[in-house]
Amino acid sequence: MDAFSKNDSAVFARRVLSVNDRGTHVIPAKGLYPHQWFWDSCFIAIGLRHHDLPRAKKNLLSLKNGQWKNGMIPNIIFYGLDERSRHVKTWDSSRNPYSPKHFRTSGITQPPMLAEAVWRVGEKMTTKERKEFFTDMYDSLVKYHEWMYRERDPHGEGLVLLVHPWESGTDNAPHWMRELHLNQAPVWVRIVDGLGIEKAIDILRPDSRLGVAISERASSIDELLLFSIQRRLRRKRYDIHAILRHAHLAIEDLAFNSILVRANERLLQIAKVLKKEVPAELLTSIHKTPHALELLWDGHDRQYYSRNFTTHELINEPTIGTLLPLYAGSIKKYRATELVRLMKNKRQFWSEFPLCTVPKTSSYYSSKRYWQGPAWLNTNWLVIDGLRRYGFTAEADTLRDRSLLMVEQAGMREYFNPQTGQGLGADDFSWTAALYLDLLQDA
Ligand code: GLC
Repeated sequence: MDAFSKNDSAVFARRVLSVNDRGTHVIPAKGLYPHQWFWDSCFIAIGLRHHDLPRAKKNLLSLKNGQWKNGMIPNIIFYGLDERSRHVKTWDSSRNPYSPKHFRTSGITQPPMLAEAVWRVGEKMTTKERKEFFTDMYDSLVKYHEWMYRERDPHGEGLVLLVHPWESGTDNAPHWMRELHLNQAPVWVRIVDGLGIEKAIDILRPDSRLGVAISERASSIDELLLFSIQRRLRRKRYDIHAILRHAHLAIEDLAFNSILVRANERLLQIAKVLKKEVPAELLTSIHKTPHALELLWDGHDRQYYSRNFTTHELINEPTIGTLLPLYAGSIKKYRATELVRLMKNKRQFWSEFPLCTVPKTSSYYSSKRYWQGPAWLNTNWLVIDGLRRYGFTAEADTLRDRSLLMVEQAGMREYFNPQTGQGLGADDFSWTAALYLDLLQDA
């Protein structure tokens, strides 16, 4: 495959971030993702900070529009849509008394990348500007981290639980899909599955009508399941007590909690710059999480897994989350070394265009299907960062170079075939563009 030069690709990347700009925020992609998404905005700001600091700031400040009064930051914020819009109706966030009055949002969150993004954007500012920006974001950050522990860590163990795979940002990852199919598939989804009419549903899907190949997305049965779980959350008005009372599947997601460890560290750094004390109760929880992450280690398989919140059983389905304790930065060096060995294993995560988001040995592996195999730039970015923290510089450089090449060949696509580098999913995808620009900085 021919590749564009780094200069040309950087121009394309900046163009994508302009085309997708909606004033206060940059959308992930036209068509498929026309609203503001939480962790997308964080990655977008991390890339934008290199050439347009005001826009980088706006992408983070605008997330406060959607923050709920209880501190939750939703994964989607809708702009300019009224109550009749299908998207707004699907979520109907106003059912929950804490949802914001002036903005309609979803009712669930996404991985807590905000403190990292605030920190990185701040790095590019003068001392005075940085303090002002940190001050603008600080209360929201504290409220958000307090919410995670208060609502999503009912046992006070230090691990945050998720109630929908969309909260993990890796929508159809195997550990979620396995548990959902085993425990939560409603009768009507089982019937549809049994009737074998998936092909008919494929045609009706909105993503199919937007021109994205269904073979590159979550399967229709999985999508039906995801929507049925979302409807259940809506029925419970996004009230966590009601949700957990009804044997709802909850998972202590490895990727999310690894990101949380790092986010907590960033929050403490931000507090230090502002000479503020993080509230004592929050601080106690923050100190628990790195130890709690060790509860997810499987001594037999010698890797970390996500855990079923109710049964406390590890869900032994490896995913890209397997490698994210590197990004957490709290694990021991010898554990990090074991993870790097897994990462470099060509039968597992390594490939021509790494990283596979599910190892090739998994029965879920597919080179095209969304979060079940393809390489994504954001998870590569997280792993590259983790490798550097543990001193695996050569591995970090190689992964960065392969990631850059993948984008230079295929363009700003949503994800990539890890074997051929072929671009998949949405085109002109913002976080690919933003993180391309960020990775280019140290190339
Ligand atoms: C998909 C991804 C999710 C992302 C969203 C918007 O749902 O799985 O991580 O935030 O698209 O880009």
